[in-house]
Amino acid sequence: MTWVSVPTMLPYNFNSVSNMSHPFSSSHYLIVSLSHCLIVSLFLAACDSGDIIEQATAKDNDGHTVKLTACVKGGCDLTDKYTLSLATFKSGDNYALTAYTIPTTADGDTEVSVVAPNVGSDISTVELVITNRLRQRVVTLASIRMDDYADSSDTIRLDVGMVDVGMFNVIQHHVFNQSCIQCHGGNGGSGAAGLNLTEGQALTNLVDVASTRKEGVFRVVSGNATQSLLHQILAEGGEEILHYNHTEVLSSQFKNDVAAVRSFIDDWINKLKIEDK
Ligand code: HEC
Repeated sequence: MTWVSVPTMLPYNFNSVSNMSHPFSSSHYLIVSLSHCLIVSLFLAACDSGDIIEQATAKDNDGHTVKLTACVKGGCDLTDKYTLSLATFKSGDNYALTAYTIPTTADGDTEVSVVAPNVGSDISTVELVITNRLRQRVVTLASIRMDDYADSSDTIRLDVGMVDVGMFNVIQHHVFNQSCIQCHGGNGGSGAAGLNLTEGQALTNLVDVASTRKEGVFRVVSGNATQSLLHQILAEGGEEILHYNHTEVLSSQFKNDVAAVRSFIDDWINKLKIEDK
C-alpha cells in the first residue's frame, strides 16, 4: 500500500461564494491511500487533475475523523466542471464546508482511502458527493449523519465499495431509479408514454428517440440539451408541457439541489455524441 497526500485546494477558487465562510487552511491535507481493488495494475490511470503531491499530514484538532474507502470508476467522464469529494455539510446547506478531492481513475481497480479530519459538531453530514465548481452539492452518492456518532470517538468508516461516477450511471441510479421508474418500466411493461427508464433500457429509450407525445420532438437530442424533451419537462417552466408535471418530480427529490441536478443532466446531454447511443 502506498500512502500519498493531496492538498485540499486542488483546482478551486471559492472566494466568490458568499456562504463559504470557512476558509481552508493550507495545513489541511487529505490523506489518500491507494491500493488495488480487483487486479494488479501497475499504473494509476489518472484522467484529469492527477496532481498527487507527496507528504503532508492532517492538522491535529478536535472533532471526528471520517475515513472513506471506495473503488472509483468512470471518473474521467465527470468533466472538469465536477469533482468527486468527501465533503462536510452543515444542516440545510448545499455548499460543502470542506471538500477533500478524490482522485478519479478510469478503470475502478484502485482503492482510494480519503480522510476528513477534524469534523466538528457544526457538521451534520459527511458525504461522498459530486459537487460543481462552486462546491455545491449535485448528487450524494453515500452519506453519514454525524448525529449518529455523537458519543463515539473512534474513526468513523464509510466503506462504499465500487462506485461508478460516470455521468449517465449517476443519473440512472440517483435520478431514474429513485424518481422515475415507478412509472417508466419498473413494474414491467414499456412504461408511461412507452418510455422505459430502467437500467439497461434508459439510454436506448432516450437518446435520439422521437417523443411519443410531442410531434417533431426528441426525448434526448445528442449534444443539445435545450432541444431535448427530457430537459424541457424537468426545467422550471416545463410543468405544462406534458399531461404530467415532471418538473415537480425532480424538485421534490432534490429540493434545493435541483438546479445543480438539472445542469448535471444538461451537461450529460451536451456531451453526448451520436455514437454513445
Ligand atoms: C407518476 C408517474 C410518472 C413519474 C414518477 C415520471 N413520469 Fe415521465 N411520464 C409520465 C406520463 C403519464 C407521461 C406521458 C405524459 C403525457 O401523455 O403527456 C410521461 C412522459 C415522460 C416523457 C416523455 C416521453 C415521450 O415520448 O414523449 C419523458 C422524457 C419522461 N416522462 C421522463 C421522466 C423522468 C426523467 C422521470 C423522473 C424524473 C419521470 N418521467 C417520472 C409519468 C411519470
